[in-house]
Amino acid sequence: MGGTGVIYVLHDVTKPEIYGGLPSNPSIPLSVKLWKHPLKWLGNLAIAAAKQGCAVTALDGSRTAVDRINEAANKLGLSLAAYQADLSHHAIDGDYDSIVAIGLLMFFPQDKARAKLADILAHTKPGGVAAVNVLIEGTTFMGMFEPGHYYLFDDNELTKAFEGWEFLHSKYDESPAPENTVKKFHTVVARKPK
Ligand SMILES: C[S@@+](CC[C@H](N)C(=O)[O-])C[C@H]1O[C@@H](n2cnc3c(N)ncnc32)[C@H](O)[C@@H]1O
Repeated sequence: MGGTGVIYVLHDVTKPEIYGGLPSNPSIPLSVKLWKHPLKWLGNLAIAAAKQGCAVTALDGSRTAVDRINEAANKLGLSLAAYQADLSHHAIDGDYDSIVAIGLLMFFPQDKARAKLADILAHTKPGGVAAVNVLIEGTTFMGMFEPGHYYLFDDNELTKAFEGWEFLHSKYDESPAPENTVKKFHTVVARKPK
């Protein structure tokens, strides 16, 4: 079975608790939900860019994500190398045609999150494109954050940061999260002036 589900096949489906104490209202633990949803698509954008012929360097703190990306890249013969790195102690090492940070910057405290955004903008080549997606204020899902180690951008902060760039895409999204919480995103894709 491809997805995560709970299926009971029982003689008396109305009383699952009589079969070895099965819960009557089965649910999927949060850790499994996180694994099956966000982690499932980690690195897909890096792989898609390499499939389009870009030479891609991908960085992430997760060994699992990095291994998965390198494995896919090797299988498909792509020009893509992923490295494990703690990006809170990392400065971008050169200038790039495109820099993409999807769902990353909110995992740093405010000063660092802003500094990382500035680093991305500074290291995008003139005429190049940066794509940034962050969680913004109004997000109430805190399950993935360590206290003091996150920052919710204000809702026009990305727009201001990209002032003077050509906006190719700017979109606000909202998605439901566990326990009646919500995740609010802003995504900007913009071209740096030449
Ligand atoms: C929501 S996921 C986005 C993943 C990826 N950007 C993508 O689009 O597939 C958040 C990612 O941030 C990474 N992350 C969080 N803090 C980090 C840090 N200090 N250094 C490196 N990666 C970090 C996590 O490992 C996780 O893969």
